[in-house]
Amino acid sequence: MSRFIVKGLSGRKKLSGEIPVRGAKNAVLKAFAASLLFKKGMEISNAPVIEDVLKMTDILRSSGANVTRSGERSYFVSVSGSLNTVIEPKIAKLLRSSIVLTGPMLAREGRVSFPHPGGCVIGARPIDVFFDSYRRMGAKISEKDGMYVIECDRLKGADIFFRVPSVTGTETVMMAAVLAKGVTRIFNAACEPEVQSLADFLKKSGADIKGEGTHEITVKGGKLLNTGKFVTPPDRIEAGSLAVLGAVLGKKIRVTDCDPSHMRAVLHAFESAGIPFLAGKSFVEVKSPKVIRNFDIKTGEYPGFPTDLQAPFAVLLTQAVGQSKIFETIFEGRLGYLNDLSRMGAGVVICDQHRAIIDGPSSLRGRDVESPDLRAGLAFLAAAMVAEGDSVIRNAGFIDRGYEKIEDRLNKVGAEIKRADD
Ligand code: EPU
Repeated sequence: MSRFIVKGLSGRKKLSGEIPVRGAKNAVLKAFAASLLFKKGMEISNAPVIEDVLKMTDILRSSGANVTRSGERSYFVSVSGSLNTVIEPKIAKLLRSSIVLTGPMLAREGRVSFPHPGGCVIGARPIDVFFDSYRRMGAKISEKDGMYVIECDRLKGADIFFRVPSVTGTETVMMAAVLAKGVTRIFNAACEPEVQSLADFLKKSGADIKGEGTHEITVKGGKLLNTGKFVTPPDRIEAGSLAVLGAVLGKKIRVTDCDPSHMRAVLHAFESAGIPFLAGKSFVEVKSPKVIRNFDIKTGEYPGFPTDLQAPFAVLLTQAVGQSKIFETIFEGRLGYLNDLSRMGAGVVICDQHRAIIDGPSSLRGRDVESPDLRAGLAFLAAAMVAEGDSVIRNAGFIDRGYEKIEDRLNKVGAEIKRADD
């Protein structure tokens, strides 16, 4: 894995210019899985050039799908004949989104086997919601040689209540329901914009889905869709992370190609912190104020504050005057990175698995840190840029999983980040 060497700006507010947002990782990965619902294949455009997309295309190819890269950010995916129903365990163990393939695969082929999905270690990340849904739709679940095996000749529509409003759970069951016989209703569904963009796309391609963007989704299932075109929406998490950099270090940063209507929780937090910003239709311009006010973060399901922005915002809180609280309600393992922020000089107390207190402002010092997951990795990049002295961020590959050539884009607006191979 490579590492980033970051020159600290010692609090100098020197970032300026425009920085474009790429397509959303957590939207495009689900679109790749949706390709199994089509008879004549589908196009994907505006895909970010990131590791997770490459892994997803590898899994699809190993299952027998034809994946053609038709441009830097464009793909055509099609399936002819029947698929290999084993989701390639080596890759699936590295990628949480691999589980999203299980719904369309099971619905299309009547069988799927897969390992417990991997991904960022940010909590237990169980998959009971998926299993409960498949059982209700008539499937049988067993385990063999460390793999789950799910079988059902033809999935049946069902009423399903989600114990928790899982994002990937909603997307997966919604896709399975498109091919199931009859009507499926998902209660307590997730309403994240990524769920909406997937549903919009499936509907445009002929699926009968209602209620996406609310907590109750109804899908009338039937047959394979013909063909479709998915345009990846902008990544709201990347946009929020870049806006945070503007808030701590920006002379003036304009985050472009984003959708501020999906960033209300972020912009509300900026208001609380006294951060001047201007939000247009597809950009957010942010400046760092003289004084950042303390504020509290409580993560929650959309439209609440996104858990994926909790770590980048913690860096902002280290620069705020006074005491701020973080309450992470979604995952129980997502505060560990704060130990490293503390080593960099931040005033941090981790109260328990879900809560932390940050006292600011503090002068951060460059350190050698290891990125534990992609969002905390981005937070380390931000902290290293704020700090005095150089930092090394190891496991840069984790950051590459979600952010396309991040150092190139940040260096263009005034950062000094180099990549080196271990
Ligand atoms: N949960 C269960 N059982 C399940 C599924 C989920 O208990 O069967 C719990 C989880 O453990 C968690 C909560 O429900 O406590 C919410 O998890 P969810 O299933 O919504 O998360 P996810 O679908 O696995 C997606 C994103 C995450 C993002 C979360 C929350 C993808 C590929 N991943 O994960 O993104 O944090 O929703 O918004 O869409 C990231 O990009 O860095 C990332 C972790």
